[in-house]
Amino acid sequence: MTVLDAGPRTALTVRGLSKTYAGNLALDSLFLQVRPGEIHALLGGNGSGKSTAVKILAGVEAADPGGEIVVGDVAAGVSEWTPVRAHAAGLRFVHQQPAVFPDLTVAENLALGAEFPRGVAGRIDWSSLHARTQNLLDRYQINATPKTPLGLLRAADRSRVAIVRALQDRDDADAGVLVLDEPTAALPDAEVAYLLEALRGYAAAGQTILYISHRLDEVLSVADRVTVLRDGRKVDTVETKGLTESRLIELIVGRPLDRVFAPPIAEVTQDAALSVRGLVGGPLHGVDLTLRKGEVLGIAGLLGSGRSELLRMIFGAQPLDAGAITLEGASYEPTSPDAAMKVGIAYVPEDRQADALLQGCSVRQNLSAGSSSSYFHRLLWRHKQERADSQQSISDFLIRLVSDQQPIETLSGGNQQKVVIARWLWRKPKVLLLDEPTQGVDVAARAEIYQLVRKATTQGTSVILVVSEPEELAHASDRVAILRGGRITSIVDRPIDAHRLTELMNSSEGRP
Ligand SMILES: Nc1ncnc2c1ncn2[C@@H]1O[C@H](COP(=O)(O)OP(=O)(O)OP(=O)(O)O)[C@@H](O)[C@H]1O
Ligand SMILES: [Mg+2]
Repeated sequence: MTVLDAGPRTALTVRGLSKTYAGNLALDSLFLQVRPGEIHALLGGNGSGKSTAVKILAGVEAADPGGEIVVGDVAAGVSEWTPVRAHAAGLRFVHQQPAVFPDLTVAENLALGAEFPRGVAGRIDWSSLHARTQNLLDRYQINATPKTPLGLLRAADRSRVAIVRALQDRDDADAGVLVLDEPTAALPDAEVAYLLEALRGYAAAGQTILYISHRLDEVLSVADRVTVLRDGRKVDTVETKGLTESRLIELIVGRPLDRVFAPPIAEVTQDAALSVRGLVGGPLHGVDLTLRKGEVLGIAGLLGSGRSELLRMIFGAQPLDAGAITLEGASYEPTSPDAAMKVGIAYVPEDRQADALLQGCSVRQNLSAGSSSSYFHRLLWRHKQERADSQQSISDFLIRLVSDQQPIETLSGGNQQKVVIARWLWRKPKVLLLDEPTQGVDVAARAEIYQLVRKATTQGTSVILVVSEPEELAHASDRVAILRGGRITSIVDRPIDAHRLTELMNSSEGRP
């Protein structure tokens, strides 16, 4: 490790950063310079190497020999880079799947990112820990107490705790870099705006930020410059000033691409696939809803309006206090997810880490999970069929991997999400419940996913879709139901206007 002479500095420079996984180059000789006090976005399609770069910077993944990392005036070869070095140099991280602990309290989670304050005889000083935590919660407006177990917070607040944990000892420092790997992927729109506001504030106070996101409007509004990766290689670093979204997409994808989602189907049937009457439970106070056969029905609502709960109740994953549901005319009782799957209802949850992936299993096993019965024929596992189906899904969904025998956790975040969706579409469910299905999915694959969802609707699947981004919801849905105050307050037919959806979610207009 060397200390450089004074002179014009970057906050962070990396040179010749490469990473090979099982003979495959995930990152190819990356050169990146981040200026002090700037918000620098690192962009690229799923599997292009963004998280790999971040993990190398954090010292948790070893780079191929030869590269160099310079933070402020400290330079080191990649072989000397460790988590301790990275921290001492002033790098702070929130990783794509931040390791927060649901069973521990908010205060304990924050303390794990710093030092537990100790009193006499080295005992943990709980009262000062709680006071400090309360302070942080107030400052970052997180709706929790220090003693709340983290698992009881909703996803949005869990992400915030992860960010606050990284920032807590970085307050007035203008050295170092805060690195955020998709901090907004799991956040609904309103909270994204709030978080971006906070990031702008830190940058204005001198904090350098390296930022990864697939939400391009957000990147254009918050970043000063962007570096784009494609297939592990840097395409370019450009100023965001004057940069348009379509130019940015072209840099990422390598060709022009309209952000168009699948077109609506021509004929909409009036037959009900699923009908919900007087559903009560949690934040829902009497939801009436009819899902027509072959349609994509969007649900728009603010944070806490109960969109996810509605899906979970239909799937039998959360109890309801009252209500009646019919599936294709027959009464259906949502007693458990098993029962739901038996009658042909499938669900892609928002929290794929916790609910949807079989950790430690291969991609192929993850793809076929849930379809076991169709591969189990006369006590013989139909490996050939399973393999063929798996290959088909991988090519349909543009899943980027080396082999489908790879463990699921070695896929990039967005590619894991594609596996979850592919699995359920493959099953051809009668009703498919999708909660934020394109979370962490890149701009090209997003359009592909909606094409495939659309294809499924022509084959008899009906879809209820929850998406926070009004623009995307408007494009992907045939109709959108507004959920407000625990009820459906109105239904918007095509053409659906995103601004109109936002208005309806916020106003009491249309309330019966
Ligand atoms: N432990 C691992 N073993 C094998 N391959 C890996 C491992 N970790 C990552 N990869 C591969 O390296 C490539 C880059 O992955 P990375 O996670 O950096 O992508 P990303 O740009 O962050 O994508 P996303 O936007 O989907 O999060 C991918 O093809 C991924 O499958
Ligand atoms: Mg990633």
